[in-house]
Amino acid sequence: MFIPIFFLSSLLLSSSYALVQDFCVADLSAPFGPAGYSCKKPATVTVDDFVFSGLAASGNISNLIKAAVTPAFDAQFPGVNGLGISLARLDFAIGGVIPMHTHPGASEVLIVIQGSITAGFIDSANKVYFKTLNKGDVMVFPQGLLHFQVNVEKFPALAFASFSSANPGLQILDFALFGNDLPSELIEDTTFLDDAQVKKLKAILGGTG
Ligand SMILES: *[C@@H]1O[C@H](CO)[C@@H](O)[C@H](O)[C@H]1NC(C)=O
Repeated sequence: MFIPIFFLSSLLLSSSYALVQDFCVADLSAPFGPAGYSCKKPATVTVDDFVFSGLAASGNISNLIKAAVTPAFDAQFPGVNGLGISLARLDFAIGGVIPMHTHPGASEVLIVIQGSITAGFIDSANKVYFKTLNKGDVMVFPQGLLHFQVNVEKFPALAFASFSSANPGLQILDFALFGNDLPSELIEDTTFLDDAQVKKLKAILGGTG
């Protein structure tokens, strides 16, 4: 008898927890905390909180990476707050790249809609997994691991990504190393790059020092 009762009580516990509220549309005027945004008062929630049109248009790819990431995270799309999901649109010009980056808070699934994208990730043992993805192909990037996407073909590419968090976070390795004022000597000490390489990359990526 013990085991069925245990299962029943855990089932009741988990379902009652899930049914506390239907949704928690982000109140973007309230502070952001570890659990996301506070909830808007249900009486003020409308269907437009659950609809986002910002992924319809291509992003601006006139930039260094020749690519654009258009997020539909909780800050842009309040309806996903608290649901553990979000989306992004990825536009790539020829040669476009989303440089090596991580999402500390989410795993990612990417689907290629147009063109081809070479994508990959590196696991904690530094094993590399990469492949050229064609239209309709899907690849998953486990939470927290460094990964990249690059358009090596002769035509533009379009992909959408979905995330297992309403706020996946994004840290791009190149900008973390070369896009801030961390002293060049420390970057050289910690990466084994020489001074000229570090100064050149800082000039390209907007870093100083
Ligand atoms: C795209 O970005 C570039 C560089 O920031 C800017 O000069 C240009 O006006 C932008 N284009 C559009 C359509 O917003």
